[in-house]
Amino acid sequence: MAAISRIALLTSGGDAPGMNAAIRAVTRSAIEKGWEVFGVRSGFRGLVENDILPLGRRDVSGIIQTGGTMLGSARLPTFAKRETRAKALSNLAIRGIDALVVIGGNGSQSGAAALYDDGFPVIGVASTIDNDLIGSDITIGVDTALNIVLEAIDRLKTTASSHRRAFLVETMGRDCGYLALMAGIAGGAEVVVIPEIESDPAQIEQELRSAYDKGKTHAIVVVAEGAKYNAQRLSEYFVKTELETGFGLRVTKLGYVQRGGAPTASDRLLGTRLGSGAVEFLNQGRSGCVTGTIKGEVVTTPYPELVGHTKGIDPELFRLAGVLAK
Ligand code: F6P
Repeated sequence: MAAISRIALLTSGGDAPGMNAAIRAVTRSAIEKGWEVFGVRSGFRGLVENDILPLGRRDVSGIIQTGGTMLGSARLPTFAKRETRAKALSNLAIRGIDALVVIGGNGSQSGAAALYDDGFPVIGVASTIDNDLIGSDITIGVDTALNIVLEAIDRLKTTASSHRRAFLVETMGRDCGYLALMAGIAGGAEVVVIPEIESDPAQIEQELRSAYDKGKTHAIVVVAEGAKYNAQRLSEYFVKTELETGFGLRVTKLGYVQRGGAPTASDRLLGTRLGSGAVEFLNQGRSGCVTGTIKGEVVTTPYPELVGHTKGIDPELFRLAGVLAK
């Protein structure tokens, strides 16, 4: 890779608390190296539509504590087409940009990998609340989202206990059950339902029945949105088959609340480490990879190892959730 003097950065896909810390770290670390920095608005769409602005140190002031992304984000399925990417490449060339930093999750890193395959130096920063990206033990936004889910579970338990109810609490995560599983363990849920491990609704009914018979005043079932029986399908099943758990049943879908609000200390630090790490790696001539953290170290993983794959969950943790719920 030729010497760098100008880089661009963008945030893409679902926003994640801590993205702003990464934007700030990329910008200031790159300026420290004497590079010029450009921010691209609205992810790959801004790259295609030439919505690109210079970023200085002061432009990224006061954002480390804020959720969302100051650059805006978008999903652009047409970026998979070579002709769409050709426009992006031309806009990068017009500004003399030497490399691009893409802060985002699975879909965004696939777009970034395609741009790299077209011949442009790209480096990713692992950022998604789903924690489904291979190449990072934990991604930017997960810790904040998990804490939001836990706060919701704690709150739901008090109202559930007052009415002796069971709650189906649905988390985000797309096809990955990480958020649901970790929230289930840390929130003391009676049952966890995730896409990676098949669940039987009749078995769930038995577990709730047994919780009721033991005298529990509430039961929490944490359900990942990507599970075959998500909260809606599970509650429909319960109604249709007239399953009797003893508890009254209510559903709470947490939705976008999980992506909002201020990042935790952990996500600010992770965004900062991964953002500045990506700049260091670019400076060493590395691209075509995603910056993540494995066993506490900031590392890179080449795009072919992660594009089209989803990180699995640890089945032992699922087993543990079941053991602790009894
Ligand atoms: O990838 C992050 C995520 O929040 C997923 O958990 C969820 O399924 C999806 O994004 C929602 O996408 P959108 O913001 O496009 O509605």
